[in-house]
Amino acid sequence: MSFMNKPAHLAKRMEDIRTFHVMNILAQAKNMERAGRSIIHMEAGEPDFSTPQPIVEAGKAALMDGKTQYTAATGLPELREAIAQYYQHRYGVEVAPRRIIVTPGASGALILTTAAVIDPGSSLLLADPAYPCNRHFARLFEGSAINVPVCAETNYQLNPELLSQHWRDDSVGALVATPANPTGTLIPQQHLAEMARFCAGRNGVMIVDELYHGLVYGDQPSTTLTMGDNVFVINSFSKYFGMTGWRLGWVVAPSAYVDAIDRLAQNLFLAASTPAQYAALAAFEPATIEILEQRREVFQQRRDFLVPALRELGFEIPVVPQGAFYVYANCEHFTDDSFSFAEKLLEEAGVAITPGIDFGEHQAEKHVRFAYTTSMENLKEGIKRMGKWLA
Ligand SMILES: Cc1ncc(COP(=O)(O)O)c(C=O)c1O
Repeated sequence: MSFMNKPAHLAKRMEDIRTFHVMNILAQAKNMERAGRSIIHMEAGEPDFSTPQPIVEAGKAALMDGKTQYTAATGLPELREAIAQYYQHRYGVEVAPRRIIVTPGASGALILTTAAVIDPGSSLLLADPAYPCNRHFARLFEGSAINVPVCAETNYQLNPELLSQHWRDDSVGALVATPANPTGTLIPQQHLAEMARFCAGRNGVMIVDELYHGLVYGDQPSTTLTMGDNVFVINSFSKYFGMTGWRLGWVVAPSAYVDAIDRLAQNLFLAASTPAQYAALAAFEPATIEILEQRREVFQQRRDFLVPALRELGFEIPVVPQGAFYVYANCEHFTDDSFSFAEKLLEEAGVAITPGIDFGEHQAEKHVRFAYTTSMENLKEGIKRMGKWLA
């Protein structure tokens, strides 16, 4: 069959671009559902809530008004202004709108930033486990990732010590997420500041992905924006703002890099989606924030239920996740192969989760990720099914 044919030529780098195993799990879960099985989805990395109504209305109005042509590559000026005001309101931080570049999701922002700083043969420090696309971005631009193994003792995050231990002469910087995917853990502000200083001392950059910042349960972190002129801050309308499918995010670049990011945006994307940008203007309105804050409370209730319930079943969770909507759990009490564990859990108990292998290699076979992006009722049912299955 033609779709089984090998491509005539595939770039060498494609050997290093790996699939997301969770996509296979998701496809299998959907097939099982079509065949009539009931599945509890704890694999999806996106909110189960749809986009808040005020944002939808603003998007609809933009479409009806014919706002369908390209914006500037850096984004709609009103939106860049609104994002700058958000930093003022939320963090008390002044940022010039010209430093804010609107992108197709945090993904677009990560691509622009890594393209701007990675030289062929250079390296970028990442945590292992971490969001897997980042190491692929390093590879795409002919650099490589230094995947630094991290564990519960460092909150599953890079810290200044690990950074200086693993930094190489060819390193151009470090990329971290706080809170992180898959662990939901935060990096202390002091560590962020020290790491930014360390990178600056070596002419390197610090890229901080703050896309789960809106979803922190407890003391609210302040932004890394103020921690030096070698710091890129990435954020998104996807998770907290409930706009995954609209594909909209942003990067706040240091002034000296704005021109480079602008040129890259012009060439790579032309611009982010115009109707999405108009819709996002409503994201910061008090009525929208009220909805989003209610949702944050719901996520927190789910976390507070899920962590002890999983521990009760025998999963080890040494660090309580402070944000995002993930629990990264050690499953070695049950298996030394988390991949087949996840497969069997789906097939035999109808619960879909993500195996550790999707986030790196360090102790991946001992870990799985649970996403609490489903209702409390479903979470309870998932725990019940797992309890029976594990027994
Ligand atoms: C840590 C992290 N960064 C970036 C992204 C990309 O998000 P988006 O492109 O939808 O904004 C994700 C998505 O799951 C993520 O978990």
